[in-house]
Amino acid sequence: LEMCRIKEKQQAGEKAAEYVRDGMVVGLGTGSTVFYTIRKIVELVKNGMKIQGVSTSKSTTELAGSLGIELVSINDVETIDLTIDGADEIDQKLNGIKGGGGALFFEKVVAYASAKVIWVVDAGKMAPKLGGVPVPVEVSPFGYRQVYKRLSVEGLNPVMRLESGQPFRTDSDHYILDLYPDNLDHPGELGAWLKEIPGVIEHGLFIDCAAEVLVGRGDSVVSVLR
Ligand code: A5P
Repeated sequence: LEMCRIKEKQQAGEKAAEYVRDGMVVGLGTGSTVFYTIRKIVELVKNGMKIQGVSTSKSTTELAGSLGIELVSINDVETIDLTIDGADEIDQKLNGIKGGGGALFFEKVVAYASAKVIWVVDAGKMAPKLGGVPVPVEVSPFGYRQVYKRLSVEGLNPVMRLESGQPFRTDSDHYILDLYPDNLDHPGELGAWLKEIPGVIEHGLFIDCAAEVLVGRGDSVVSVLR
């Protein structure tokens, strides 16, 4: 099963590179699926395509940089033509939960600045509705316990994300609270509500974000359009 999932990730990830054109500024997502996209983009660059990448995390910066993709700061580009990213769970309206890897904040800033967003996933990530994975919320270390209490009172069952027994730190040195809401029938409303809480930097609900999802399913890749 695990081998099958990896194969699906590879196929979806590699397929997305076919959407990359000469001269594009490409947002490079984070995770084990986009890894395969990045490897394919490296081939395109070696074959003479001019591509500039905007990274969404330290790990992607290291990966893409070490493989020879020219990286540019998001602050130095006019537009990002296309962003390719992974996701943790996607519903039938193509709303998604991201941030299992902790990169949600930069990923969302890059996605919002992109003309088009494509997600690449294995078939196991597709769900009739969201709620099968926790909703990550990136919070400021200053005052995070107050935010935690607020989320608890609302019944969102926050859990502080840990790494080796210590609070997990994002690339911008924030914490992550993973929410386990009893129901996630209205992800857009929950997302909007979360954004209003002082101390919340960003959350992992990506609503109306991806225009297309490439799903690795068995031996093929299925394109789903919003
Ligand atoms: C990073 O914070 C996440 O949003 C990833 O994009 C997401 O977890 C997908 O990762 P995989 O492709 O490794 O499953």
